[in-house]
Amino acid sequence: MNVLHIDSSALGDHSVTRELTAAIVADLNNTIPNLTITHRDLDKDSIPHLTGASLAKADTAEAAAAEQTLQQFIDADIVVIGAPMYNFSIPSTLKAWVDRVLVAGRTFSYSETGPKGLLSGKKVVIASGRGSAFGEDNPADFQEKYLKQVFGFVGLTDVQFVRAEGIAYSPQHRIDALAAAHATIPALAKAS
Ligand SMILES: Cc1cc2nc3c(=O)[nH]c(=O)nc-3n(C[C@H](O)[C@H](O)[C@H](O)COP(=O)(O)O)c2cc1C
Repeated sequence: MNVLHIDSSALGDHSVTRELTAAIVADLNNTIPNLTITHRDLDKDSIPHLTGASLAKADTAEAAAAEQTLQQFIDADIVVIGAPMYNFSIPSTLKAWVDRVLVAGRTFSYSETGPKGLLSGKKVVIASGRGSAFGEDNPADFQEKYLKQVFGFVGLTDVQFVRAEGIAYSPQHRIDALAAAHATIPALAKAS
């Protein structure tokens, strides 16, 4: 089984979502035999913005890297993503990854009947970190709801969130939010 582990926080060792994705992947690795884990750090090794030149495949090295990024996603059985909320949405480094994996003809298609996701059977686990507290279904949430839309669009509906929020309210809020998030992790691997 292939696990694609993606981090996008710019906060390095202080990151809540990096701590959670590491714990999620470690738990998967302890529970499911023979995992192949690929880690992508979009902060250290960022993907270029999608430009006209990218679409024209003008730079062959960039085109090859984009194909590798897309294939990594297609080949993954479980995708674990660290997704902090940045300005109500996701980090632009993670958006740059999304722009390389939502590709017509590869992960979705359009026809007279509308769009169709071309993927199935993957599990997506998203470690969500938020300074403020939004809960579920908040109109100001363009982070979790956006990611749910992105994966649903390509046919992936098994999307689970491990959420630590309100972490900027106080040091104790951060400790409590992280503890609550960690407590939900063991159930994820058991359900795989
Ligand atoms: C550039 C930036 C923008 C942020 N924007 C928001 C925001 O819009 N809403 C919010 O609740 N928290 C916001 N935060 C706080 C982060 O969501 C919070 O620190 C979260 O823990 C980030 O995850 P991380 O620790 O893995 O980086 C922002 C943080 C940064 C660095």
